[in-house]
Amino acid sequence: MMRLDKLLASSASISRTQAQEAIRRGRVTVDGEVVRLPEKKVDEKAALLLDGKPLTYEKYVYIMMDKPAGYLSATEDTRDPSVTELLPEDLRKRSLGIVGRLDKDTTGLLLLTDDGELNHRLTSPRYHMDKLYDATLDLPAEKKDIEIFASGIEFSDFTAMPAKLEIGEDPHRCLVTLREGKFHQVKRMFEKCGKKVVALRRISIGEVEIDGSLGPGGYRRLTDKERDSLLFACGLKK
Ligand code: URA
Repeated sequence: MMRLDKLLASSASISRTQAQEAIRRGRVTVDGEVVRLPEKKVDEKAALLLDGKPLTYEKYVYIMMDKPAGYLSATEDTRDPSVTELLPEDLRKRSLGIVGRLDKDTTGLLLLTDDGELNHRLTSPRYHMDKLYDATLDLPAEKKDIEIFASGIEFSDFTAMPAKLEIGEDPHRCLVTLREGKFHQVKRMFEKCGKKVVALRRISIGEVEIDGSLGPGGYRRLTDKERDSLLFACGLKK
């Protein structure tokens, strides 16, 4: 159960004050009846109409974006453009959190959600959520690099967990699977092997893969199946 003005504001992407006014003016029905009390507690699943138009309440939103190069995975920045600028007004208002930031020049799968617990679990190494990256290198990767990645690399500030490195047919292209996401981690791991990452793209997080039809800067809501796969993998759904 939830206050009607809160439910309406969230479902219609309007302010709480606008919602209260609409309710008082009799523009809102709940399960077919006009309700004029903004504070009335209603079921989140009730049929809610504003001016006769049905609204659906989303407790949380889950967005995938194909992050373009040149954008920061930050919610705001004064100089550089941020990925949230690519979202429409109604989604920007929801103050979505970014799941596992990508560097400014990195492209590919970025998840944004206001489900704080899922965000936390997706980025915590405790839940073993695989993140897959496609890395392009300046020099060809070598067999010994696979061992280096698998053994867990020691840095001055942290020791990387064992990671999987797969060398492509063109050895300048590699797939890297990580279960954590420290700052510049993929780039720093290749640096330890004497190679420089010249392009980096995140392909997947858990079972959720980047939708190739989105294109740079494109976004969409996760399907129920994609969302549930993440919730399930993080122990938030049975
Ligand atoms: N590793 C990096 O080095 N950069 C990213 O953006 C993500 C992982």
